[in-house]
Amino acid sequence: MRAVDIIMNKRAGKELSPEELQFLINGYTAGEIPDYQVSAWAMAVFFRGMTPGETAALTKVMLKSGTVIDLSGIEGPFVDKHSTGGVGDKTSLVLAPLAAAMGIRDPMMSGRALGHTGGTLDKLEAIPGYRTNLSVEEFRRIIAADGFAMTGQTKDIVPADRLLYALRDVTGTVESIPLITASILSKKAAEGAEALVLDVKYGSGAFMKEAAEGEKLALSLVDTGAALGLNTAALLTDMDEPLGNMVGNFLEVEESLDCLEGKGPADLMEVTLELGARMAVLGGKAPDAAAGRALCEKTLAGGKPRELFLQNVKSQGGDPQRLLELRGNYRSPVTARVKAPRNGYISRIDAWKVGRASVDLGVGRNRTEDKVCPTAGVQFHAKRGGAVKAGDPVMSVWAADEKGLAAALPRLADAVEYSDAAPKLRKLILKSIS
Ligand code: URA
Repeated sequence: MRAVDIIMNKRAGKELSPEELQFLINGYTAGEIPDYQVSAWAMAVFFRGMTPGETAALTKVMLKSGTVIDLSGIEGPFVDKHSTGGVGDKTSLVLAPLAAAMGIRDPMMSGRALGHTGGTLDKLEAIPGYRTNLSVEEFRRIIAADGFAMTGQTKDIVPADRLLYALRDVTGTVESIPLITASILSKKAAEGAEALVLDVKYGSGAFMKEAAEGEKLALSLVDTGAALGLNTAALLTDMDEPLGNMVGNFLEVEESLDCLEGKGPADLMEVTLELGARMAVLGGKAPDAAAGRALCEKTLAGGKPRELFLQNVKSQGGDPQRLLELRGNYRSPVTARVKAPRNGYISRIDAWKVGRASVDLGVGRNRTEDKVCPTAGVQFHAKRGGAVKAGDPVMSVWAADEKGLAAALPRLADAVEYSDAAPKLRKLILKSIS
């Protein structure tokens, strides 16, 4: 077999066999097939796509490139949640303890901020002392004790994806449905999950800008999940506007605590509860989504998820008391406000523009090796549909430094659109796919 023939087959739109995909991915992971050939193949996949069978075969080959976490000996069910990425999306921080409080185990392996999207690991690390580099043994022990653990991928988990994702990032081949599917599901299957709830985002702040593309991705994820033996459900949710009122690492931890105390903003609570409902169903705790949602609401009101979150902070090296003391005042001193330039309504807040500005503020990173600032971010005082008067504060902004603040402020002001009449609101949850 030769890599060049595989590239040409894909370029011609042919279906690659599992053996061809195994040859290519294993050869690449072993350093025997060079970046330039895999880049050419990824671009051919980008334009030609893959059949469902090919996507499943690619996912299996990638999964087998590394170790699969063994959670035997711990009582399940093991259900995880994954989002395709967005701005202000902190639902994982609420869902992991919520699921645990319902008797579900959540082995959560997450990623870092890259590009305009935030990362769960960066948010958690904004809690002083919190460690996201757990060993497999620590991961197992904390799941058994607290019902969930939140960590980064070890270097043995799907090494093929680490290489391939970095290559896709610099070759314009990230936004390919089969490649995203294989990347996400290989990692989720490797962390030990038996079932998976996916939050597939669409809109300006998501990979998939249009709902139709988001739906195709959701279907691909659900079908491929089934082919892997992972019971998978997906929601297609709006990411045209940031989720919740906070964008920033510590700010988002604070807003997650608000949700755990039942006082999170309506949009964030809605997405969290609908995802939690699906986790309850897949974990066998509720017969359908409506009953799952009712169970989530009851469980949150009982206070156990908040208790488990604080317990997990302690288990992963943080100090829960210190976290609560910092709440409301752990902010960078470099600060400003964005004010409404006119009377009217906020008709749109562009999530991509806010995400891009938050990289300037120090919330996210341009390159993998960049450091993020825990105390930078944006707090919205009004969102889509909100009535404002000229001079009203629309956002409070905190930056790691003056240069970042100066770069972000015009972008943030530009992210907000105004109208004379109250705008029609977009649907927050467009579809449920299972
Ligand atoms: N998240 C992933 O893990 N992989 C992708 O390809 C895209 C988003």
